[in-house]
Amino acid sequence: MKTGDKYIMLEKYSELQQKALDDPEKFWGEQAKCLEWDKTWDKALDWNPPYAKWFKGGSLNASYNCVDRHIKGNRRNKAAIICEKEDGSCGILTYYELYREVNKFANVLENLGVEKGDVVTIYMPMMTEAIIAMLACSRIGAIHNVVFSGFSSDALADRINDSKSKILVTTNLLYRRGKEIDLKKILDKALLNCNSIKHVVYAKRGIEEFNLVSGKEYFWDELMGGAKSYVEPVPVESEHPLFILYTSGTTGSPKGVVHSTGGYLTYATKTMDWTWGLNEMDVFWCTADIGWITGHTYVVYGPLSLGATIVLYEGAIDYPEPDRLWGIVENHGVTILYTAPTAIRMLMMYGEKWVNTHDLSTLRLLGSVGEPINPRAWKWYYKVIGKEKCPICDCYWQTETGGHIIYPPIGIQSVPLKPGSATFPGIGIDVDVVDNEGNPVDANVKGNLIIKRPWPGMLAGLWNNDERYRAAYWDRFKNKFSTSDYAIKDQDGYIWVLGRSDEVLNVSGHRIGTAELEHELVSNKMVAESAVVGKPDDVKGEVPVAFVILNEKYRELPSNEVKAELIKHIRDTVGPIGTPAMIFFVNKLPKTRSGKIMRRILKKLIMGEEIGDVTTLEDNTSLEEVKKELEDFK
Ligand code: WTA
Repeated sequence: MKTGDKYIMLEKYSELQQKALDDPEKFWGEQAKCLEWDKTWDKALDWNPPYAKWFKGGSLNASYNCVDRHIKGNRRNKAAIICEKEDGSCGILTYYELYREVNKFANVLENLGVEKGDVVTIYMPMMTEAIIAMLACSRIGAIHNVVFSGFSSDALADRINDSKSKILVTTNLLYRRGKEIDLKKILDKALLNCNSIKHVVYAKRGIEEFNLVSGKEYFWDELMGGAKSYVEPVPVESEHPLFILYTSGTTGSPKGVVHSTGGYLTYATKTMDWTWGLNEMDVFWCTADIGWITGHTYVVYGPLSLGATIVLYEGAIDYPEPDRLWGIVENHGVTILYTAPTAIRMLMMYGEKWVNTHDLSTLRLLGSVGEPINPRAWKWYYKVIGKEKCPICDCYWQTETGGHIIYPPIGIQSVPLKPGSATFPGIGIDVDVVDNEGNPVDANVKGNLIIKRPWPGMLAGLWNNDERYRAAYWDRFKNKFSTSDYAIKDQDGYIWVLGRSDEVLNVSGHRIGTAELEHELVSNKMVAESAVVGKPDDVKGEVPVAFVILNEKYRELPSNEVKAELIKHIRDTVGPIGTPAMIFFVNKLPKTRSGKIMRRILKKLIMGEEIGDVTTLEDNTSLEEVKKELEDFK
């Protein structure tokens, strides 16, 4: 690795990377020994583009690897899950307790007629029962389909119907910002249109009574009461699907990304270790919801496969006060915190005073995921939270990649960090940045990020949709995996992911990523957060419109001056083509509960269209505010 005429000595990383790329089959075969297999594979990789069969001929059980193997040794009484609720109540589940619950729920599923290969939908917030249900599915070879509990009835029904799920595991209530949200109402509506569902299991909460449909619906506690305490884990073929997880595509309905058991679990386990270098003392807190891939890989499978202690928090990270997250870190002695830039920016906006009342000295690593982290948020995270002692692990990946793809390999050795870059390709990941014809671009030139060969965490396919699988990921760059992200590789080999190539605006025939504009806006000291959407324009085709949250101390400045300054900033950093046609100042942006900005809603608002379904919205006041801002503009 070259830095101008200097060399960055990343010996251990380079050595491992070399081995992985020289002989992938041998390398991944060695890595897969991090799991216990019932039968060893015949062939580590069978690559028949665009399908990869990892560890073909081998068989294993994921729940065995995440619970049984730990209770045979020193981890038997170790905390597996520290779970805290928004109301402050807190519980701990040891590995032995988790083992018992998983076994019993596996038996519940068996008693409901679930067999290997059946799909079980799990629609639950961050409660331990959700993790128990996921592991119970894998124990008997059932395929789980977790649907984010913030999704609407229609979204839930679509995912149940597409996956032809037989069983739904859920709850009747959600707790958020001190309020109870009636999930049962959403479920009742969804279930009207879900013919494949034979049984529903409710992990009931709250005092409200409700009736169950006899012979179809049950309470979790009642079924668990009569369940057997041991169910033999079913060894499944390595390629057997462990789960389906629906994710948004550029167009059309959500895609059912399928991950296999052996490849996925190997990759989840190894990236967990290579990224963070876990030890027995660690308390790992990944704030992602289990409804997303980050929750699957780095709340459930990665940490539990390694026998780690995780924190599971159900609630808003700034409720009842803006220091809630820091309080949780302090109270549970979190050593590794893994969260998203949007959360960091929000907490940064509240200011340091909320941080400084807490002892955060247990922290040793700080992670970031979900979008490029802007250097100002990075520096705040590094200085104010990590006190300049904790490396920032910016981890780039996707639902499709199963685990981190570009990340600092801190578990192997520390690397010099550059704020805003996820650093180097992960171990065994052969990435490149190419032009639209697939030719590698020069250093510091923007191109398409692709992965040139298969890796164990790679999606096994799309649920019942081979054609879309090929079209979405493999056709464009001839059997090389297309991430649909733009990136730059700099002169030192660091990768800078710039944002989705498919959320582009076309301004006078020029393409501009909304993420790029947002990135530039937040790089201005006045801006805390921003969202950019395209507005149709008779002359230019489309023009960017920016919604901006200003940092507290700039809010009193005359808005015309601030706008002029931001326009100048964009002209300077992106070029005149990126100049926002309108800038609106707001205090909140409409976001999903997982923190993603809902640009679709902003777009509809500026177009004066009906907004439609907003059940995933974090907070309705943000919408009202944007509407008012637009009204004032008229
Ligand atoms: C974006 C989430 C820059 C990227 C794990 C990707 C990132 C999409 C980063 C996948 C990061 C995720 N830096 N961009 N560290 N992490 N992304 O499937 O655009 O929900 O394609 O998976 O998030 O989102 P997904």
